[in-house]
Amino acid sequence: MNIIWHDKTQQFHLYNDEISYIMVVQPNGEMGQLYFGGKIRDKEDFSYLLVRQMKSQVPADAPDETFSMELNRQEYPGFGSTDFGINAYETVYADGSRISNFRYSSHEIIYGKRKLEGLPATYASDDEAMSLIITLVDELTGLNLELSYTIFRDYPVIAKSVRFINKGEATVILNRALSACIDLPDQNYEWMQFSGAWARERFPVTRKIERGMISVESKRGISSSNQNPFVIVKRPNTDEFIGEAIGMSFVYSGNFIAAADADCYGKLRLAMGIHPDTFRWPLDSGDVFTAPEVVIAYSNDGLNGLSQSYHALYNNNLVRGKWKKTPRPILLNNWEATFMDFTQDSILKIASKAKEAGAELFVLDDGWFGARNDDYAGLGDWVENPAKLPGGMKELSEKINAMGLKFGFWIEPEMVNPDSDLYRAHPDWAFAVPGRIPALGRHQYVLDFSRDEVVDYIFDMLYRVIKDANISYIKWDMNRTLTDVYSNGVGPKLQGCVYHKYVLGVYKLYSRFIEAFPNILFESCSSGGSRFDAGLLYYAPQAWCSDNTDGADRVLIQYGTSYGYPISSIGAHVSAIPNQQTDRSVPIDFRANVACFGTFGYELDLNHISDEEFEMVKEQIAFMKENRELFQYGRFYRLISPFETDVNAWMVVSDDKKKAIVGLYSMRANVNSINGRIRLAGLDENNLYYIGSNAFYGDELMKVGLTVNPENTGDFTIEQDYKSCLVSLESK
Ligand code: DGJ
Repeated sequence: MNIIWHDKTQQFHLYNDEISYIMVVQPNGEMGQLYFGGKIRDKEDFSYLLVRQMKSQVPADAPDETFSMELNRQEYPGFGSTDFGINAYETVYADGSRISNFRYSSHEIIYGKRKLEGLPATYASDDEAMSLIITLVDELTGLNLELSYTIFRDYPVIAKSVRFINKGEATVILNRALSACIDLPDQNYEWMQFSGAWARERFPVTRKIERGMISVESKRGISSSNQNPFVIVKRPNTDEFIGEAIGMSFVYSGNFIAAADADCYGKLRLAMGIHPDTFRWPLDSGDVFTAPEVVIAYSNDGLNGLSQSYHALYNNNLVRGKWKKTPRPILLNNWEATFMDFTQDSILKIASKAKEAGAELFVLDDGWFGARNDDYAGLGDWVENPAKLPGGMKELSEKINAMGLKFGFWIEPEMVNPDSDLYRAHPDWAFAVPGRIPALGRHQYVLDFSRDEVVDYIFDMLYRVIKDANISYIKWDMNRTLTDVYSNGVGPKLQGCVYHKYVLGVYKLYSRFIEAFPNILFESCSSGGSRFDAGLLYYAPQAWCSDNTDGADRVLIQYGTSYGYPISSIGAHVSAIPNQQTDRSVPIDFRANVACFGTFGYELDLNHISDEEFEMVKEQIAFMKENRELFQYGRFYRLISPFETDVNAWMVVSDDKKKAIVGLYSMRANVNSINGRIRLAGLDENNLYYIGSNAFYGDELMKVGLTVNPENTGDFTIEQDYKSCLVSLESK
């Protein structure tokens, strides 16, 4: 990897073994983009890629009438001068004007990567990455803009972020401060977004890019299950294995916009950042605003190649602490077993059976605190309910630990029920516009985490519970979207900061917990997967993927999630049947065969399954213990999409290519079907792989395919509903 500055031609070239990213200081002093794609060799001058033309209705940047931003590709375009595409920023100055001219002033090239203060971001050591920080100055007002770029040694990835620094005298209002733009020179792409709703999160939606704008967004205060802050553009012929694709992943957990703007001169602009509709940030003299990071990846090896880059980068350079690259404990969570109706004794019975099955961690879900016997009361009162936990969390954790299980519990720190002591004491701590009645969501209000005193209070309450007990895991839930966002902590001029400050408050609380309890494994959750984003992975290495635990639906949800997020982050459990969301009864082996492509655990009372099923559970846990490193950190390939056929196939391959596991799932019986073969991927073509006592070379398995027959795939068939199997391959 390297970052080269060609002083004579005023061009930057960032490259590693796979990609090149080339920029130029344009004739008007602003940064322009010349190329982003597969690696090309460096040279002094790529200025032939600048467009110099005069066209009717295309204004030029005086005094050079042959140069217009509209015809060229921009790094960080504003609105109001000669660029008319979706703009990256909008400033309002003291005189009411909105135009800036951010001219190149200086740059710095460093090894490694700087931290983004208060924000999640990828990190890298000095030999893993290089960074470029370009300072641009609006001379008239003194507003400075810093564009930061990191290129990683091992991944075809550029991470971008932005800082505004007000070095002028007067206050400047930032009405928009997106994090990244990429201008591509043609529009022959398809757009992929990951859309859904509660219980059907992150289904891929693909459409052709046509002239005009496509965008997805969240204005719910969280990244949301409706649209995910991860998008892809790909060539029309790109599939899972071949072709070009570019991904943009937002390392942020609040309101966002991701857009593709195809203009009438053939340029395609991709933009991503904090949603401007809910953002207004005054910058007084000396103030700094940092926009969160966007991770941009390039692949010429199809969508699997793109996903694998995100998986590896996020596992190695986003997730931190003890749980980075650590196989995740196999847990049993009591939610679907008891909901809020439990006693210490009933919990101990469930835990004891989980231990007998081989589980490693017991998680006590919602209902242990305050007056929390249903979802109308108690949120905010983080004190154990003595009727349920007579000796508090301490005694329960000791009893569970004595069984040989680790212990963790559920919290929802950002929320308050109107029926709670906290709300009665501090009604002004919940978001509400004075004089208006705020909306409820699951009978609860959202606490104003933009205020430090609220974050501190919740920290102190929960700190006591965590510190007293022996806690290995916390599930941090968040069960409603934000509405009525108004803070009583600031005056009218700062209300436009509250959405973003709320997210910063969430990050602050996470940071305080992580600092105080560095060994705890955090799992984020938001009614399942409503806040599944790269921002939270920085704090919580895994996320509960969906409240829909139906095995068949989980195939779809986990398949969609895998495009942008590693298998190690996908919270996946085997739950009871009939499924509480779908009423469907999918066999226990199917449910487990799906959940093992995730963090793996159970969410049911194992006392209530048959002896035969209990034996299967024991085997599943033993199998997962042996193979979880491969499942969670191996190279993951999507092979056959459940969105296209009734069959799904995916697989993982170990780094040394000696081991692999293929998962096959048939959702719906295909009567009188043909005998199938499944072409595998990622193997070493020269290796001889054993499936039981049969052996096949890697090239056979990848070119001819794995034959679906009893010897290879057992009783798997696509002639029945909900059949599945895992095929283990080993090269000796
Ligand atoms: C929503 C979560 O997604 C569930 O797993 C469970 O924790 C409930 N909240 C508890 O209220």
